[in-house]
Amino acid sequence: MPNVGVWLIGAQGSLASTVVLGARAIARKLGANGGLVTELPELAGLRLVALDDLAFGGWDLAPTGLVAHARALASEAAAVPESLVTRLEADLAAIEARVRPGFATGGGPAKRVRGTRAFLPRRESLAVAVERLGDDLDRFRHAERLDTVIVVNVASTEPPLELTRDHARLEGFRRLIQRDRRDRVAPSMDYAYAALARGFPYVNFTPSVGIAVPALHELGQKHHVLFYGSDGKTGETLVKTVLAPMFRCRNLEVLAWEGFNILGGGDGRVLADPRHKRSKVKSKSGVLGATLGYEPHTKVGIEYVPSLGNWKTAWDFIHFEGFLGTKMSVQFIWQGCDSILAAPLVLDLVRLTEFAQRTGEAGPMTHLACFFKDPLGVSVQSFPDQFSMLTDYVARRVKSGRKRPRTQ
Ligand SMILES: NC(=O)c1ccc[n+]([C@@H]2O[C@H](COP(=O)([O-])OP(=O)(O)OC[C@H]3O[C@@H](n4cnc5c(N)ncnc54)[C@H](O)[C@@H]3O)[C@@H](O)[C@H]2O)c1
Repeated sequence: MPNVGVWLIGAQGSLASTVVLGARAIARKLGANGGLVTELPELAGLRLVALDDLAFGGWDLAPTGLVAHARALASEAAAVPESLVTRLEADLAAIEARVRPGFATGGGPAKRVRGTRAFLPRRESLAVAVERLGDDLDRFRHAERLDTVIVVNVASTEPPLELTRDHARLEGFRRLIQRDRRDRVAPSMDYAYAALARGFPYVNFTPSVGIAVPALHELGQKHHVLFYGSDGKTGETLVKTVLAPMFRCRNLEVLAWEGFNILGGGDGRVLADPRHKRSKVKSKSGVLGATLGYEPHTKVGIEYVPSLGNWKTAWDFIHFEGFLGTKMSVQFIWQGCDSILAAPLVLDLVRLTEFAQRTGEAGPMTHLACFFKDPLGVSVQSFPDQFSMLTDYVARRVKSGRKRPRTQ
């Protein structure tokens, strides 16, 4: 099997630390693989890279954080045993040493991290940053003798950025970079550009705009590279996209669906800023209308509760109408450990992206819609239907005789 690099944007965050901890734990047979979709029997026909064939690195805004987040996951969040982190600390520290300075301009409160000033290059233009970031990827690939590198964005959520005519075509977007238009190019776009321009697949697990720029799709197609996003579907929205099809199939009219989320951690702190929260609310809001065929009264609330740390609670109230107009309700409470829900999905996305690349695919990976709140180019929001898109893809790949793809 190939040696695969995983380059995490936001490599010192809670999610990134959990991804690395989880991959190393499973590789060393110290942890169970629950939550990994790629371990389901439905996907057994694909020959996927093993987790111990993954090498990690990434960009962040400060030189340290990965090991500390892994420790906090054990000591503060009680999400994993402390003994696991202790046993893997050397592995984690080696990956932390590989973290390179990211590109921060536009990151908002996310960049208020200790050590940032000394770590990040000063007054770097967009064009210079794109080259530096691309060089980091090439260097990682050569140093670790990797067959490919998959770039995954798990950095803090950026505020939304309105797309203009300049974002429509590659030529116009390149002009924005050359003219250093930081007001029009978010860091997540700069990273996506750097990855795609060097031929590395890019996956956006965050609600930041990232790959959702037509000019970047053109770049991906031009370089025959895979890309996909946005915003991993791990909690409240996942349950919504499972329940909403039930109401539709039973002809029960949803009158109102009110969701209230409280969370802690770095993500919660960033989302406490109303501009950044808008990106998350937007990616969480699009799912009901598409599944039900109409828009019920609905609101998504997100509040930061520091003491919750890595844990998140969602309370949803669904008011619906049945036979003879009788009104009823469903309520659910979802309490999840944020990074523990998300990390296996990041590993799934890496494995499935690497498989698609190895078998010659390029462009948007729409068969991965079930992993995202706002799947690029897919209007289907029902989770069972999205999961069928994935299993149909597996069946097609197995049937087309590519279940034993050549290695690069
Ligand atoms: N269940 C989940 O955990 C989940 C689900 C879906 C989406 N997400 C998204 O994943 C992202 C990460 O979540 P988290 O809990 O790990 O947050 P976190 O705050 O713990 O980590 C974010 C990391 O990104 C870094 N960062 C910020 N701006 C950066 C930049 N411009 N370049 C490079 N690094 C940068 C920060 O320094 C930090 O280390 C968030 O955008 C979140 O919305 C998480």
